[in-house]
Amino acid sequence: VAALIPENTFMAEQKNLEKCLEEDRGAEGKKKTKKHKGQTWAKEGPRDPFEMLDSLSEEKQQEIQKALHLFSFGHGPPKNLQEAQRHTYRFWDTQPVPKIDEKVTSHGPIESERPSVREEPFSLPQEFIWDTLNLDNQEQLRELCDLLNENYTEEDDNTLCLHYSPQFLLWTLCPPGWQSQWHCGVRVKSSQKLVGFISAIPATIKLKMVEVNFLCVHKKLRSKRVAPVLIKELTRRVHQQGIFQAIYSTSAVLPKPIASCRYWHRSLNPRKLIELNFSSLTRNMTLQRAIKLNRLPETTKTTGLRPMTLKDMPVVQALLREHLKAFHLSPSLTLEDVEHWLLPQDGVIDTYVVESMAETITDMVSFYTLPSSALNHPVHKGLKAACVLYCISKATPLLQLMEDILIICKARKFDVFSALDVMDNKAFLEPLKFRMGDVHKQYYLYNWRCPEMASDKVIKLGLMFLLKYKIKHTLLRHFT
Ligand SMILES: CC(C)(COP(=O)(O)OP(=O)(O)OC[C@H]1O[C@@H](n2cnc3c(N)ncnc32)[C@H](O)[C@@H]1OP(=O)(O)O)[C@@H](O)C(=O)NCCC(=O)NCCS
Repeated sequence: VAALIPENTFMAEQKNLEKCLEEDRGAEGKKKTKKHKGQTWAKEGPRDPFEMLDSLSEEKQQEIQKALHLFSFGHGPPKNLQEAQRHTYRFWDTQPVPKIDEKVTSHGPIESERPSVREEPFSLPQEFIWDTLNLDNQEQLRELCDLLNENYTEEDDNTLCLHYSPQFLLWTLCPPGWQSQWHCGVRVKSSQKLVGFISAIPATIKLKMVEVNFLCVHKKLRSKRVAPVLIKELTRRVHQQGIFQAIYSTSAVLPKPIASCRYWHRSLNPRKLIELNFSSLTRNMTLQRAIKLNRLPETTKTTGLRPMTLKDMPVVQALLREHLKAFHLSPSLTLEDVEHWLLPQDGVIDTYVVESMAETITDMVSFYTLPSSALNHPVHKGLKAACVLYCISKATPLLQLMEDILIICKARKFDVFSALDVMDNKAFLEPLKFRMGDVHKQYYLYNWRCPEMASDKVIKLGLMFLLKYKIKHTLLRHFT
């Protein structure tokens, strides 16, 4: 790690973070002198900013959120290539990743020498401490749910927030081979509040690597260079296990994407999506027309379509292995992986298979459940999305298979079905009335150079890349 991250860069990041926090403390000090002029609600003595925020009503918090969003335009990492070309990557330019304007033509590690791995964790400013989360502990699991549900979503007006359940997080964060030191948290030392997180899970995609996910910094701590420290600490912990490559994805344009994909959405409950203001109607579109346009048959067509069971695992594994060969980057899945990732778990993951008359499995579709809560809506409590993971059709026509899955999802009260335009998905998106979202998903490799590839040559790298999307914006154009 020392080799990867020059000490002066680290020191600079560190100083910057400390300076920001110092400024915050200064600002707090100034506020304190003013407090007596009428802020009678404020308690004496220093107050935890998180406590202060929590003590406000939900409506007030939403207002603040909206204001923060308004004032934060133009900040944050670039969202497209033009912005990226103008951006100075103070952190990423020190990392073993290709430069944003580099033309990559070869494959291989960027740093082939094993770095000497730093023994001690990267230091945090004195108010914060590292905490390796123990997800077997219900309380810690709940804390992580809260951190992510309140801070991971990119919603701009805080009217909808993702609602990861503890079971869902266990599914995503504890697959076969998981390591607790890769569930890396940051807490406020005084209050023990969890304010930052980053995770890695093992993945074999030609090489042994990790898939990095759930990088999250509390909204109150943004733009203070905490993210680079989290990334460096996780890198150190992964290096300690002799692993030097990683895959990750985000909507931000960083140096340098290997592929770019897009979300598509199929409305299953148009009325609700409109009422929740997640889809909008154009001038020529009425609610009735939107409902008619998205109507699905009442019953499925495919004989033998049923939920996957434990006994299907070897056949499903073989189907997947055969299917994944066609893609440039695809994971090798052991039987344990198939069981973990695909065996149905209520409210987490569903897999349907088609069993032929000859009692063999010919096709499969898996999707996971991603619920969100609607905040302060008079009618609706939330939104339930299904997100496709794998679909393989060998004997059943793809369109028929996917339409049947949509019918099943509608019957099971999903409101929307989402897919990325990866793998063979493009073949069913438009025919089945999916609408293109406006969020791109960029895929990255750490310490591995490879030329850019088309999205249909990308498998969902590892498994978790669909986990988060900007629901509101992606659906706004739904009926246009
Ligand atoms: C992503 C997140 C942790 C970044 O935190 P932040 O406070 O905005 O950024 P910081 O000031 O700490 O760090 C800025 C650096 O992190 C980089 N960065 C920002 N988002 C990033 C991401 N998703 N992945 C990797 N690096 C990222 C920036 O490019 C910048 O580095 P640079 O100087 O080389 O350009 C924060 O915005 C967040 O929690 N967002 C919600 C969850 C999320 O979108 N996570 C991304 C994974 S899908």
